[in-house]
Amino acid sequence: MNDIVEEIKTLKARRNAVILAHNYERAEVQDIADFTGDSLELARKATQVESDAIVFCGVYFMAETAAILNPSKVVLIPDETAGCPMADMITGDQLRELKAKHPGALAVCYVNSTAEVKAECDICVTSGNAERVMASLPKDKGILFVPDQHLGGYIAGRRGETYVLWPGYCPTHARLTAARVAAARAAHPGAPVLVHPECAKDVRDAADECLSTGGMCAYARKSDAREIIVGTEIGILHRLRTENPGKIFHPVDTSTICPNMKKITLDKVRDCLRDMSPRVTVPEEIAVRARRAIDAMLAI
Ligand code: 13P
Ligand code: SF4
Repeated sequence: MNDIVEEIKTLKARRNAVILAHNYERAEVQDIADFTGDSLELARKATQVESDAIVFCGVYFMAETAAILNPSKVVLIPDETAGCPMADMITGDQLRELKAKHPGALAVCYVNSTAEVKAECDICVTSGNAERVMASLPKDKGILFVPDQHLGGYIAGRRGETYVLWPGYCPTHARLTAARVAAARAAHPGAPVLVHPECAKDVRDAADECLSTGGMCAYARKSDAREIIVGTEIGILHRLRTENPGKIFHPVDTSTICPNMKKITLDKVRDCLRDMSPRVTVPEEIAVRARRAIDAMLAI
């Protein structure tokens, strides 16, 4: 393990690269990253990078977002097959058809979407800023929210609004059930339950807080609770435990694993720095339009 960590450090310096990792990455990948965060934090970080290259340890849409925000930099993803099934649940053609059925409606996409879908949208949201962004939008012509029905339904419910929801969902968060939340509560009485807004409504209703992964990290830092129950992809437990050594974190369900996030390994990080490949690029015509939706979000 140490040999490969040294190899990565050497290559990173030679390539003048920075390593960004999502909170769901393998523990050893988070440990070699220069910055670990949620989708919003990583998108913001990608706009501040001064190095020549970014190694993005996460799923493809995240690396694509970094590439859109940083057209002059080399963005690498250690495994280009690390996709997000939810992002692939709506295509550009499907969104164009939906927009044609609702002329004038604003199109809002969760950042878990392809660049082509972002290019068709007025604004983007992440789980960390969705409520704030939705509060800023006019609603008189209607809102199309894609692709996550659960994040969209959660924000619509919080704000007492109605959106046209695309029926996409995250297969990993779909593993979490209200019964599992109840069982975790029974096993750890008094511990607050945090879940991700990608969870279904009955799971969200069974929880105390519904937060992005960055929101969960912030909650854990501030909370006086000694034990916290966490309902999201279990990669986040590494960060929570490292940052809060005096606290105990229990997953709602240990099988909540995103197989795509786990495709990124130290070997692949080393290989992509050595080969400067696979590189993530977005066709200029799509990137320019997708950037408008991402910039509109970052401005709020
Ligand atoms: P966060 O933005 O909360 O990190 O979520 C990203 C994601 O893919 C959740 O499944
Ligand atoms: Fe996509 Fe779900 Fe994996 Fe997040 S956890 S990257 S939404 S499949």
